[in-house]
Order: sequence, then structure tokens, then C-alpha cells
Amino acid sequence: MPRALRPLIPRPMGALDLDRAAALHGEAFTPLGERGWTRQDMAELLASPGVAGLLLQVDGTDVGMAICRVVADEAELVTIAVRPAERRRGAGRALLAAALGHVRATGARTLFLEVATDNPGARTLYEGAGFRDVGRRPAYFRRGDRPAVDAFIMRLDLD
Ligand SMILES: CC(C)(COP(=O)(O)OP(=O)(O)OC[C@H]1O[C@@H](n2cnc3c(N)ncnc32)[C@H](O)[C@@H]1OP(=O)(O)O)[C@@H](O)C(=O)NCCC(=O)NCCS
Repeated sequence: MPRALRPLIPRPMGALDLDRAAALHGEAFTPLGERGWTRQDMAELLASPGVAGLLLQVDGTDVGMAICRVVADEAELVTIAVRPAERRRGAGRALLAAALGHVRATGARTLFLEVATDNPGARTLYEGAGFRDVGRRPAYFRRGDRPAVDAFIMRLDLD
């Protein structure tokens, strides 16, 4: 099927999606040296106030997920992950757009995220959506035996 015809419509994540979400997170982040989140991590996060998850499935296959948190008028993109074999086909952009739609609907006025300074692909995705650098956190991403990596703090105004 041509790429452009794949329907990329994330849906809200529910309690039955915890294993899917943990698997997607692990597949995306363990190659970066980060700890993949467990089912329990996912359950606790999704039960926290203001947290919502989005899951993207295509033809019954789990392709990607995103989690965001809204506190008053500020939102945070907590994580976004696309299965390696499904990348560069618009899934990340679709998940980000759905997350933006969700946080806008809650009345949030700004969306923040942290992205590793050695992750130019993700930065390009965010810059394309209008995010701009507003700060840097030293040694923010812990990577087991590897040196920790700084994070850029990026911000998008939603007004
Ligand atoms: C970042 C991530 C979510 C992007 O998912 P994706 O499905 O590949 O993204 P898309 O196909 O929607 O890409 C949209 C645009 O982002 C940019 N982009 C995405 N990945 C890129 C890469 N590796 N290199 C350069 N640009 C990239 C491109 O501009 C791309 O548009 P194009 O393909 O038309 O050129 C995915 O690579 C991932 O899961 N990475 C591991 C986890 C991670 O780093 N998460 C973000 C942490 S802050």
C-alpha cells in the first residue's frame, strides 16, 4: 500500500495497552542506552494526574506511542517512541500532532519537552512542529555505564 494512504490516527491508551506501551518504549529507548519502562512504570505514570497516553496501531501492528502530562496551563511531552522498523513514515509526526491536539483541548498554553543533545532526528521532528530551544539540563539522560547526556529543553507556545 502506498505510504501516504496508511491511516495514522493514534488513539487514547487504556489499561489494556500497558504491555504494548512498555514494549514500544523499550524497543525505542534501550538502543539509546536508556532504561525501558516496565508495565508497572507505565501503569503508575498513566494513573498520575493529568497524564494521557496515545497509541498508534497500523493494520493491527503496534507502531508507536506518546505520553503527555498537563498541569494547569503547562503541558509536557513525557515520551514519544516509534518502533525502529516503522520510522520515517510519518508515525512520529502523527503522534506529536495527536499529543498537541490533546493538550490544546485541555487548555494548556505551552508544551515543553526534553530531548537529548545527541538526538538530532527527534530535534528535527520537534523543530518542524515549531518547538524552540529554551534551555539545557546538564547530564539529564542517564545511560547505564555510558556517560550521561545533556538535554535541550524545548518549548512550543500553543496560543
Ligand atoms: C524520534 C522518533 C519518535 C521519530 O519517529 P518517526 O516515525 O521516524 O518520525 P516521522 O517519520 O514522523 O518523521 C517526521 C520528521 O521528523 C524528522 N526526523 C525524524 N527522524 C529523523 C532522523 N532520524 N533524522 C533526521 N530527521 C528525522 C524528519 O524531518 C521527518 O520528516 P521526513 O521523514 O519527511 O524527512 C523515532 O525516531 C524514535 O522513536 N526514536 C527513538 C526514541 C526517541 O528518540 N524519542 C524522542 C525522545 S525526546
